[in-house]
Amino acid sequence: MHSAIDDTRCGDTAFKSSMREQWDYAAAGWNAHAADIRAWLRQPTEAMFRMAGVKTGSRVLDVAAGAGDQTLAIAQQVGPQGYVLATDLSPAIVAMARDNAARAGLAQVETRVADGEDLGVAEASFDAAVCRLGLMLFPDPLRGLREMRKALRPGGGACTMVFSRPEKNPCIAILMATALKHAGLPARDPFVAGGLLSLGRPGHIDALYRSAGFQDVATSALDAVFHMPSVDHYIAFVRRSASPILQILGGLDGAAAEGAWSEMRDQLMVFTTPHGWAGPNELLLTAGRRPGEKA
Ligand SMILES: C[S@@+](CC[C@H](N)C(=O)[O-])C[C@H]1O[C@@H](n2cnc3c(N)ncnc32)[C@H](O)[C@@H]1O
Repeated sequence: MHSAIDDTRCGDTAFKSSMREQWDYAAAGWNAHAADIRAWLRQPTEAMFRMAGVKTGSRVLDVAAGAGDQTLAIAQQVGPQGYVLATDLSPAIVAMARDNAARAGLAQVETRVADGEDLGVAEASFDAAVCRLGLMLFPDPLRGLREMRKALRPGGGACTMVFSRPEKNPCIAILMATALKHAGLPARDPFVAGGLLSLGRPGHIDALYRSAGFQDVATSALDAVFHMPSVDHYIAFVRRSASPILQILGGLDGAAAEGAWSEMRDQLMVFTTPHGWAGPNELLLTAGRRPGEKA
């Protein structure tokens, strides 16, 4: 595992190489937890497809697609006459998306390693574009949204899912603050670009959509409780797949890192219920349309 970087001093290139490296490392863990992630995000994901206008036969662009969990759901929705292009910065996670699609027999899925800020797809070639829990990790999310808008045909719809503000996502806030403290790093402004909660400031993402040239922009906030059998199951998920936290702890030796995980576990115990562990999250689903013909 690489050591922690001070991302406030890094240019985009260093930031992106570090992001790619982090997700190459966390890819197997994210993929292994696909069923938990699917259960957590089921309703918001269905809403995201509706808001982007995904239909039978649609050509859909999936940005920051990860191991392709939502890609496979899109492929089922568009059917064999449709098409989904799953793109992601991390070659390791894209390879998993490709394998998952092949194993599911979904020939309408293609995969490509691509930076969401520089997609390299033909202009106006998609009916819909989605990005599930990816855009907030871009150093320049406006560029990412411009790329999505350009890829859409006139009238085509985009929808992104990001975390809202820290108070509504206390587990992430606890993980970040505790990891930074144990790594000896100063507290971070949660709204600095590229962070997990960076697009959560009310109104910010709508303004970015408008600047990127979308119209009919609207955001809905949705609760998405992460249910796990126990806090230990949640910590096990974070330890294998939450690359931003792993990156912060990357410079610590084994004992120091264990101290951090133990404190995170203690703090997150507060979300234990009689029926298991239930971590609150709030997501923002933002939709917009490329100006032109009606969808
Ligand atoms: C939290 S995961 C979400 C993956 C998937 N969308 C899902 O919901 O299962 C975030 C993904 O964003 C990708 N990512 C981060 N920065 C990116 C960028 N600049 N361009 C494309 N993908 C990026 C990571 O490689 C990772 O796969």
